[in-house]
Amino acid sequence: MLRKPVIAANWKMHLGPQKARAFAAELAASLKPQGDRTVMLFPPAVSLSVVTGVLYDRPDLVIGVQNIHGDDTGAFTGETSAPMAKEAGARAVLVGHSERRHVFGETDAQQARKVAAAFRHGLKPMLCVGETLVERESGKADDVVLRQLVSVAETLDDAQLHELTVAYEPVWAIGTGKTATPADASAMHAVIREALHRRLGDAAVQVPILYGGSVKPDNARALLDSSDVDGLLVGGASLDVASWVAIATA
Ligand code: PGA
Repeated sequence: MLRKPVIAANWKMHLGPQKARAFAAELAASLKPQGDRTVMLFPPAVSLSVVTGVLYDRPDLVIGVQNIHGDDTGAFTGETSAPMAKEAGARAVLVGHSERRHVFGETDAQQARKVAAAFRHGLKPMLCVGETLVERESGKADDVVLRQLVSVAETLDDAQLHELTVAYEPVWAIGTGKTATPADASAMHAVIREALHRRLGDAAVQVPILYGGSVKPDNARALLDSSDVDGLLVGGASLDVASWVAIATA
């Protein structure tokens, strides 16, 4: 395997500081460091310091923030900047999750600014891309995903592009119980890999491409075994320690 699998938990708007503290302590006790994969957690911003504090002696667990603003400081009520997330112990950031794009109306241009902010401050960006059901049914899935990818990739130099992690999350599979089949996931991952290859040549093999959308303990292994699937981004099933440990070790 060229790329170490990445298994990431996106808690979304769940687990405030108290529950996050208990989760992190239980996780530390039940999940040994995994040498053959990278395990990541994306708690809500308000719980970030608590989680990085509880897990300070577990550098194998990479903690990130779910969203950042493109600017470093300023009059942006309710936002979190990359340097603030970094100060709270984050090492990574989710960018362009479909809920940011579709619920909060964020544009491709905003994602590019967030990725730039992440690189300025040493946070590893995980760029989420994915088509809606309407886009898939009208045959536009590849175009939409490539537009989301290229609009960010074209703002990066090659060294930065190597450092990107991509997460393919078909919107119709998120939180719906409808998982893309391993074949659907592989097909889109190949499209993404090909686009990266056009830009980076053979070095494109280094960029991890994760799948997300209704991943559960019972489908994690089959998805991980599909070609070009380098890891998983997990929402609902990451909120229970036992379920999360089963996926993280699948
Ligand atoms: P889900 O969410 O696993 O609950 O479908 C995945 C995600 O949105 O990252």
